[in-house]
Amino acid sequence: MPQTSPESRIEPIVQQDVLIIGSGAAGLSLALRLPQRLSIALLAKGSLEESNTFYAQGGISAVRHARDSLESHVLDTLNAGAGLCDEGRVRLVVERGPGNIDWLDNLGVEFTRFPNPATGPEYHLTREGGHSHRRVIHAADHTGREMQQRLDRMARLRPNIRIQENHLALDLITENKLERPGNRVLGAYVYDIANDRVQTFAARFVVIATGGAGKVYLYTSNPDLATGDGIAMAWRAGCRVANMEFIQFHPTCLYHPQAKSFLITEAVRGEGGHLLLADGERFMHRFDGRAELAPRDIVARAIDHEMKRTGADHLWLDISHKPAAFIREHFPTIHGKCLEFGIDITQAPIPVVPAAHYTCGGVVCDERARTDLPGLYCIGEAAYTGLHGANRMASNSLLECLVFGQLAAEDIGRQSARTQMPEDLPIWDESRVSDPNEEVMVAHNWDELRRFMWDYVGIVRSNRRLERALHRIDMLRREIREYYGNFRVSNDLLELRNLVDVADLIIRSARRRHESRGLHYNLDFPFRDDQQQNQPTILYPDSYRPGPDR
Ligand code: FAD
Ligand code: SIN
Repeated sequence: MPQTSPESRIEPIVQQDVLIIGSGAAGLSLALRLPQRLSIALLAKGSLEESNTFYAQGGISAVRHARDSLESHVLDTLNAGAGLCDEGRVRLVVERGPGNIDWLDNLGVEFTRFPNPATGPEYHLTREGGHSHRRVIHAADHTGREMQQRLDRMARLRPNIRIQENHLALDLITENKLERPGNRVLGAYVYDIANDRVQTFAARFVVIATGGAGKVYLYTSNPDLATGDGIAMAWRAGCRVANMEFIQFHPTCLYHPQAKSFLITEAVRGEGGHLLLADGERFMHRFDGRAELAPRDIVARAIDHEMKRTGADHLWLDISHKPAAFIREHFPTIHGKCLEFGIDITQAPIPVVPAAHYTCGGVVCDERARTDLPGLYCIGEAAYTGLHGANRMASNSLLECLVFGQLAAEDIGRQSARTQMPEDLPIWDESRVSDPNEEVMVAHNWDELRRFMWDYVGIVRSNRRLERALHRIDMLRREIREYYGNFRVSNDLLELRNLVDVADLIIRSARRRHESRGLHYNLDFPFRDDQQQNQPTILYPDSYRPGPDR
């Protein structure tokens, strides 16, 4: 196989004040809120548009109705979080909710409204699991697309934002790694996918906004990019990671061989949809008084239980009792997608199964989005902020992206005057590696990892299943480490390396929790233990150094 000379893949160092890794709701909103005097590099692993954000359906939760209250939003969030939310952070996010909706509105994001003769157009508020009021602001069933496209357009108009699509950050550069005193983050190595070369980015501040890790599982509502890169990079660089055992499984994804776990929004249940067994019987009331509107962990486990009990490969979600015009108006995306597969949801129920949806844990950060490493921030789904506890309430995630983007922008704005641009960063060294010769190993390990995570570390876990998963992951980690050390990087290899690190963090966190709570259910510890286990699971990397010298 021909060898590429190392020089042809190496670029000069790129210097920007702020390097934002990720351009979903978190990264884009931060970029737009930073002072325009700062130069920004905004990375996307694929196109700027492709992100979890783009696929969000239900909406954004915020208190906008006169009969709703901030206190009620706080209490619902705490309740869904099953005792593990940080109440101060919950209040911080909820209080900034209404202002963030105004911010999006001012940018031109078009939410669904209805005419009110007394006050003019008002937001239509939908309802989702765990919310005791209608408080989900949305753009029909394509809220994420509306937000992402608007934020993209605004970012492209800003001369201080350098957009780099198809650029995959592969590792952070820190003082510690360069054997310099301190542990500040100095930049990142970034794989330019289109040109097959690794660039060095130097920055005064680096922000991880890389989203979640749904691709760790065989079945997921997430797009392909959700490989937990930021969580893995931060962990390798010395950041603590918390609550990784709490992986949210969305109860209702379309069951069809070609549908790739297309999501059927919880708002379908919020607007009156019923979950049905194969014989047409409703069953959710047997599991929770809130029936179809119980929090997601309860609904997903109930579906899993009924599928296993009856041997069914899927259950049904039916909204066909509502007027067809209402369904088409509120759920145009789902209606259209299901029609592609021959299902008319105005006439017939939708076949559904649960799938991995949201990573509640992530990189530990404070109320300003700062991580353990000076200069490194983390926002959005990659972060552990304390908002979600053991189970995220529906539509709180986009809100968290916006609020922590705003908090990070405020902090970086304050710090920027006294922070220097890092100097003399080494370029990426490929002198000791060769072209990959066993790509089949990468493909095989991707499949194996995602399958055993689904089977052993899924909705229902046990000590034995977790042991098995740990054993497998140890072997995979050794193989990948060796491969990574010997061969030139590629997209698939880098993502696999991150998936393996994140899967390891999930398994290790799950093994530490000797109880069942929220999204973590272990057959060997079926009860919640408020005496011994009422705290987040925090993992410390070997390179962790306490007391950041910010
Ligand atoms: P993302 O939007 O996932 O963006 C991640 C970005 O990071 C992308 O630009 C990606 O290219 C980039 N990236 C990743 N790795 C790298 C790397 N190594 N180098 C460079 N760039 C990288 N939440 C709600 O609140 N309401 C909803 O209605 C809702 N519906 C959802 C529906 C679906 C189908 C899904 C999957 C999620 C939904 N969620 C919803 C969750 C919510 O969409 C996500 O939590 C949120 O969008 C995450 O935003 P983010 O900016 O953190 O990450
Ligand atoms: C949905 O629309 O059901 C997803 C909402 C969310 O994940 O917050």
